[in-house]
Amino acid sequence: MKLAELQVLHLDAAAFPLTVAEQAAAGGHGQAWVIGTCQRTVVVAAGREGRGALVERMPQAAQAQGYTGAEAYAFLLRFACGLESRLVGETEIFGQIKESWREFCASPGILSRQLDSWVQLLFQDTKEVRARQLSGLGSASYGSQVRRLLGTASAGPTLLVGAGQLAQAVAPWIQAGELLLWNRTRDRALELAKLVAERNPQRACRVLEASAAAELAAWSTAGDVVMCVPPDHARDAARIAAWQARAGHQGRIVHLGLGDSGDAGWAEVSGLTSLASLFDMLKAQSDLRSVQVTRARRACAEKAVLRSLGPSPTQAHGWEDLAAFATISP
Ligand SMILES: NC(=O)c1ccc[n+]([C@@H]2O[C@H](COP(=O)([O-])OP(=O)(O)OC[C@H]3O[C@@H](n4cnc5c(N)ncnc54)[C@H](OP(=O)(O)O)[C@@H]3O)[C@@H](O)[C@H]2O)c1
Repeated sequence: MKLAELQVLHLDAAAFPLTVAEQAAAGGHGQAWVIGTCQRTVVVAAGREGRGALVERMPQAAQAQGYTGAEAYAFLLRFACGLESRLVGETEIFGQIKESWREFCASPGILSRQLDSWVQLLFQDTKEVRARQLSGLGSASYGSQVRRLLGTASAGPTLLVGAGQLAQAVAPWIQAGELLLWNRTRDRALELAKLVAERNPQRACRVLEASAAAELAAWSTAGDVVMCVPPDHARDAARIAAWQARAGHQGRIVHLGLGDSGDAGWAEVSGLTSLASLFDMLKAQSDLRSVQVTRARRACAEKAVLRSLGPSPTQAHGWEDLAAFATISP
């Protein structure tokens, strides 16, 4: 497949909140590669026909932001480098994209074969831009942000609620106190405990029973709490009540499931940092990082142009190629 045929649609979750079923429908049966994250859905297809079929399967596609060819490659590269993320430069997104590609290729089809060489180049370029332009950017992972907020000291164990992708990324960064893991599905919490033990065999870590009572008991005794689950009106009131009833009202909650839409119940809770407030804090610090981020975005655009010119990144190019740089926005 030529790069000119690459088609990418970008649906921001704020404007296009797609359900899991809608994302699956967008993929058809292997006709498009759909990458769903909490901030966006990115759909990758090949050729005009692929794009046309996508619009038929997915009404939102007609209004979504679309990219073709080198523009599409540049977008995917910025996406994989974390440059489209609200936590700019975050590293988890690359793992999510690789995992999504692995799942897409688990049922091989025409599209996975067509995209394969481009995706391999994308992964290679992502590593290169990250290493050259984004290394030393500072705390650019959710885990490192949690460590920064909680520090290393705590008045008791740290309770981590959730065992999904985000909890897996965050757990190894939590240092304070004993680590208590609670998840609705206990097996996933056990898997997470295994991951923590592999990374740090000395780390004290305990998996709680999956009952609501076990979770609430932990809320009453934990020094700090890290939430890696979406808000849940039915359970949150009891969680907040257990937290507020603690003697001294000390400790911190980092709630990474609590985004812009907020949740009235959490508004007055003491010691809370929501995902939305974390983004606000980072925005305030972003000037320091902006030079590096601008350079990384520029590198993504340049790499996309080079990829559109030929397979070898070191091949010689003429002055006329420079015109192409002007067409891709960094
Ligand atoms: N992944 C990221 O990079 C990222 C970044 C920022 C914010 N977030 C937010 O963090 C939260 C978790 O994201 P994720 O990527 O880890 O998702 P995920 O991999 O799908 O995991 C979801 C987690 O939430 C639990 N969960 C879902 N609905 C629940 C409910 N109604 N009651 C109790 N537990 C529930 C799941 O429990 P089971 O195992 O029992 O299903 C699992 O532990 C989401 O709100 C997401 O928007 C994620």
